[in-house]
Amino acid sequence: MKQLPVTQETEKALFFHNYSRLPLAITHGEGCWLISEDGTRYLDMISGIGVNALGYGDKRLLQAITDQASRLIHASNLYLLKPQFDLASRLIAISGLSKVFFANSGTEAIEAAIKLSRKRAAMSGRNEKKEILSLTNCFHGRTYGAMSLTAKAKYTEGFDPLLPETGMIGFNDIADLEATISDKTAAVFIEPIQGEGGIHALSAAFIEKLTELRQKFDFLIVADEIQAGCGRTGKFFSYMHLGLKPDLVCLAKPLGGGLPLAAVIGNDMMADVFSYGNHGTTFGGNPVACAAGLAMIDAIYADGLMDNAINTGNAIQTALQQLASRHPQILDIRQFGLMIGITVDKEAKVYVDKALQKQVLINATSQNVIRLLPPLTIGKEEVQRCITVLDEILTEESR
Ligand SMILES: Cc1ncc(COP(=O)(O)O)c(C=O)c1O
Repeated sequence: MKQLPVTQETEKALFFHNYSRLPLAITHGEGCWLISEDGTRYLDMISGIGVNALGYGDKRLLQAITDQASRLIHASNLYLLKPQFDLASRLIAISGLSKVFFANSGTEAIEAAIKLSRKRAAMSGRNEKKEILSLTNCFHGRTYGAMSLTAKAKYTEGFDPLLPETGMIGFNDIADLEATISDKTAAVFIEPIQGEGGIHALSAAFIEKLTELRQKFDFLIVADEIQAGCGRTGKFFSYMHLGLKPDLVCLAKPLGGGLPLAAVIGNDMMADVFSYGNHGTTFGGNPVACAAGLAMIDAIYADGLMDNAINTGNAIQTALQQLASRHPQILDIRQFGLMIGITVDKEAKVYVDKALQKQVLINATSQNVIRLLPPLTIGKEEVQRCITVLDEILTEESR
């Protein structure tokens, strides 16, 4: 069959039009760099939307994947699979929680958490307790349950009817939190640091009130750590910065070392909520993905990558503050380890396109926010390159 050119035109012809892709055909990666068909090297400051925590080509990760793939690629959840056991026990040890369910994507982890939330309430005979709440400006995924919890109309328009008995609380709005929570509330889903929403952190005061209300109304707190988790903010889970004890935690993105893998981790109270057949997935907990995930977590600890997230993140923050003092187009900077949002004066896409011309890959979210989610391995030279290019494009755009 004739080989098709890997271009935007061919993409339009072949695929549904749900992705807005950059005109860049990537063939491989090395460290923090992606390399295109013509051999040009691009500095990757977004790491596959927060997935490639170790960058590209980590030997330990590759070894874990090839070792496991040569033994067994798939067997299903009909059997006992050691890579699942190893990764689950690691996640339990890190979180202090007690049970794990593996899925394949972030949105699937959210679906499982919604089902766990409602089933837990139903098991206690409280039929009125079905309401699932989330926060304004949040993003939890694109399947029906997750989409029903997701704030922005651009993700939900045209897809009615959504899941019933869902609702929103104003982000960091303590008065609204108190007014909205009731005996009907089964769970509140939070991103401790909102990602797609533009990198915004929940306040300690909001979390404190949420925890207090949980005591009174007996609902679950579900921490969506899909973007902020696995060390990106300098702690393994971003809720750890807030002293929060969630009932359920959702992980995905970097969890499978670049292979599709997600997890829901739950506390003791959730241990017996699912019974046989209540939930499942053919591929969830794929042994190669689990082996990759374990290698990825081992590398995060062995290489001190959470410390790097803090130190390099702080260095980026300092450099961005200096840029902001010279470029009034920078309106705000929010940085949590290597999860960084820069609010700019116009559509962030303008800057993304300009940075691409200079071989630096950044990302736009929430209209006017430049988002940086570099590999956790990023070093000084790469940071310097990114800052130089941001300086150049901000200068060009001010003319
Ligand atoms: C916080 C958060 N939750 C859920 C999701 C959905 O994950 P996935 O795209 O793997 O379904 C994302 C994806 O960006 C996310 O950032």
